[in-house]
Amino acid sequence: MAEDPTGGRGRRLVTRDDDGAGTAAADGSGPAAADNVEAADPRRLRRIRRGYDAWARIYDWFARATASVGGVRAACVRALDLAPGDTVVEFGCGPGVNLPVLRDAVGRGGRVVGVDVSPRMLDRAAGLVERRGWGNVSLVEADAERPPVAAADGVLATFVTSLFADPYRVVSRWCDLADAVVVAAFVPEGNRAANAALRAFVRLNGRLFDARSGDPLGRLTERTAAARRALDDKTAVRERERRVFGTIAIEAGRDR
Ligand SMILES: C[S@@+](CC[C@H](N)C(=O)[O-])C[C@H]1O[C@@H](n2cnc3c(N)ncnc32)[C@H](O)[C@@H]1O
Repeated sequence: MAEDPTGGRGRRLVTRDDDGAGTAAADGSGPAAADNVEAADPRRLRRIRRGYDAWARIYDWFARATASVGGVRAACVRALDLAPGDTVVEFGCGPGVNLPVLRDAVGRGGRVVGVDVSPRMLDRAAGLVERRGWGNVSLVEADAERPPVAAADGVLATFVTSLFADPYRVVSRWCDLADAVVVAAFVPEGNRAANAALRAFVRLNGRLFDARSGDPLGRLTERTAAARRALDDKTAVRERERRVFGTIAIEAGRDR
């Protein structure tokens, strides 16, 4: 993570981590050793960046309009069990819909780091940070598969892990760097109408989920299960719950 929170991009609070090697402690204590996680396929990453850049404005509107549906976001942050003064990293933070509840959980003395690969999404999040005048929320343009942060109290990722080719590997890596990891993902195990909606959604976004043909719901199931397995294998205390007619799984893993 670059140390200048403005990242040389004027008013915006976005820093860049182009090669993923600038791993730092999220408490701002400076660069730490670079991790050895393999680079993600650059073409996949570009595809994801382009896709989310194009939809950032609409996604921001939609995510804010639905932010309280099912209490999913609040439940995720509760499951992290954060305390005032803690440091929390959100991977794939998008336009920052979780930032207010994360910021509330760690208070003024804590630190929130939002990481995303889409500059347009980060611009939306930066606008929110600026409007709220939060001095302890930073945003980093980086690949969540190669975390630009070495240590944190908590890690959150909502609706992101299904976009990784190997969610098991990425979520395991997050477990190594944080005391608590919470992941929310769609699961095609709700009722028939919910499954149909999810199938349409994944098919529509087939390029992002690497599921242009074949079985989109199978792909989703497989990736959600892989993230869950990583938490099972790497954390001592597990909690799970389902929300919104069983279509959203919240999976929490903590060291204690
Ligand atoms: C469906 S949106 C979810 C945004 C937010 N977490 C939410 O719940 O509204 C997925 C986000 O993950 C980001 N993303 C996908 N792959 C990523 C990666 N490898 N590294 C960082 N961000 C990534 C996208 O750019 C996008 O902003």
